[in-house]
Amino acid sequence: MAIPRETVEQILQAARIEEVVGEFVTLKKRGANLIGVCPFHNEKTPSFNVNPARNIFKCFGCGKAGDSAKFLMEHEHFTYPEALRYLAKKYNIKIEEKEQSAEEIMQQSLREKMFNINEFADKFFVDTLWNTEEGKTIGLEYFRERGYFDPIIQKFHLGYSPAKWDAFTTHAKQNGYADDLLEQIGFSIKGQKGLYDRYHGRVMFPIHNLTGRVIGFGGRILINDPEKKSPKYQNSPESEIYDKKQTLYGIYFAKNAIARQDECILVEGYFDVLRMHQIGIENVVASSGTSLTMEQIKLVKRYTKNITMLYDGDSAGQHAALRGTDMILSEGMNVRIVLLPPEHDPDTFGKDYSVEYVTNYLKENAKDFIRFKTELLLKDAENDPIKRSQVIRDIVETISVIPDSIFRITYVKECSRLLDMPEQTLTNELNKILRAKLKKTLGIEDNVVPETNTTTIPQQQDTVEEQLPAGFYQERELVKLLLMYGNEVFVDVREEENGEKVYEQVTVAQYIIDELKQDGFLFTNIINRKIFDIFDHALDEGQIPNDQFFVSHEDETIAERAADLLLTPYKLDQWKKYSIYVKSEEEVLGAVVKSSVARYRELIVDDQCKAIEEELKATENLDDQLILLKRKKDLDDIRKQINEELGIVIAK
Ligand code: CTP
Ligand code: MN
Repeated sequence: MAIPRETVEQILQAARIEEVVGEFVTLKKRGANLIGVCPFHNEKTPSFNVNPARNIFKCFGCGKAGDSAKFLMEHEHFTYPEALRYLAKKYNIKIEEKEQSAEEIMQQSLREKMFNINEFADKFFVDTLWNTEEGKTIGLEYFRERGYFDPIIQKFHLGYSPAKWDAFTTHAKQNGYADDLLEQIGFSIKGQKGLYDRYHGRVMFPIHNLTGRVIGFGGRILINDPEKKSPKYQNSPESEIYDKKQTLYGIYFAKNAIARQDECILVEGYFDVLRMHQIGIENVVASSGTSLTMEQIKLVKRYTKNITMLYDGDSAGQHAALRGTDMILSEGMNVRIVLLPPEHDPDTFGKDYSVEYVTNYLKENAKDFIRFKTELLLKDAENDPIKRSQVIRDIVETISVIPDSIFRITYVKECSRLLDMPEQTLTNELNKILRAKLKKTLGIEDNVVPETNTTTIPQQQDTVEEQLPAGFYQERELVKLLLMYGNEVFVDVREEENGEKVYEQVTVAQYIIDELKQDGFLFTNIINRKIFDIFDHALDEGQIPNDQFFVSHEDETIAERAADLLLTPYKLDQWKKYSIYVKSEEEVLGAVVKSSVARYRELIVDDQCKAIEEELKATENLDDQLILLKRKKDLDDIRKQINEELGIVIAK
């Protein structure tokens, strides 16, 4: 049914883009705008802008843009009327609609019909729980018996489906819902006597999507009867509105707490979520027994990069915890694991202990995944050397899925300590895997990329440094930043003459090339210089080539250098001051790029100053001396400027 045009206008005017988007994307204030990580494409640094003045959003990364309705259509896959209805509800605008006739119900889109019947069912189950004799004595009593209080039962819309075999089916049919819809969405199953209820005699958990609409149900049997064949939980089948791999139970109630606390606690079951909420820990969602999917991880990633898995302490729980980790890591997220005492799941644990005890337990027992995995596997391997080497390979394999080389190298260090193994051995193993992966993604035959020895440089450093040109390592570092992060954006803070701070978004490539060109500090190494020139030229054209462009470059020396640098771990001293649990990768990247550039400039300045001093000593001619002194003064100015910039980096 059409929504009157005036109402549409009224809705669109009432909708505040920052509020609508803010439900789904964590936004931070930046000047007059708000900025966040784009939900429509994969990015690490935020380029998704929300402009409250114009009431629109725009992503500078993928180009998506529009108003509140457009955002909802893109994000929630709503139709235009669905988006408008959502907004109308959010802003309490009444859409004049007559009581729907059976015919009108027919005309709704299937998705709308499904949402509609779910809402209808939700009301029915909740009503049955609270207002019928059977619901109260059996359903409500069951929840209370397990130690749940009314507010939590109400908050999660827990319900009860009567024991009578077709109670809901009949009720729904009387209200105009068609047989095939009931079957399709899973409330009813066709039997010999006709349609009967999937969930009869169960307590009901509605499953909500991000916006709080009911997309499915889970129903728990009341008594665990091993004699009976029926499973403990019955869940809705997948449908047009319920995609299990995209769903996390509790996300609607948890999302704000997850963003606020910058952490998501992952549990297995419905009751685990309820219990945590009841004791006041609200950043909790459940994977509902199935193994974690990439889509679920991406859902969490909208709100935080930190996942804590809270699993049963038994062996099954331990190994279940291992299953999700590689996927989480490959998304560039941080995983920690907490194991409960073997006799507990989060539900019983939260029932038996106080919130202080639970919070404290979580804090004290959260283990970084790498330590967890290493310890667990080592325990399995005991002293068997063959199993041990399998463990090492297994763990290095896991480390290799981490996209960020900085974190990889941090983990290698940690692992070398845990396994009592030289770091170098692990690094070699890791590089072997990474090289193989890189070749595979590039579709390169095994013998095309030469086996550059990427691991010797940190070792040689102490002995060889004397003979290397100034800034040798810093130059490599900068080329590496160009190759790895050239496209990434960070916010550069500059101080104006009047002391005012100016914030400016800049790509890593643009920043490095501009800074170096400004002093005329071009790279000295001939291959690095070629790479520098390629970037310089590309930036003029408004483009930034990616790492693959260099790795498959026709100039073999460039291709080789790129592969070498891309696979060399970061020198740790540069990075170790940044902890693994970083708040914002963008901030770290900005700080690292700026300090790397400053370090390089500093070294070149020092080197040139030294050379000038030598020359001064050797020169008798006054004119020559003056020229040298003038150059020295310029260098001193640059040094002063570098120090000021480093000051800003530190202050940030
Ligand atoms: N599950 C399911 N179907 C089953 C068993 C389990 O869908 N037959 C899902 C449910 O989402 C359940 C989760 O897996 O919440 C974890 O299962 P389990 O630990 O067996 O159940 P609990 O949540 O602990 O439930 P209870 O405490 O009532 O036994
Ligand atoms: Mn349980």
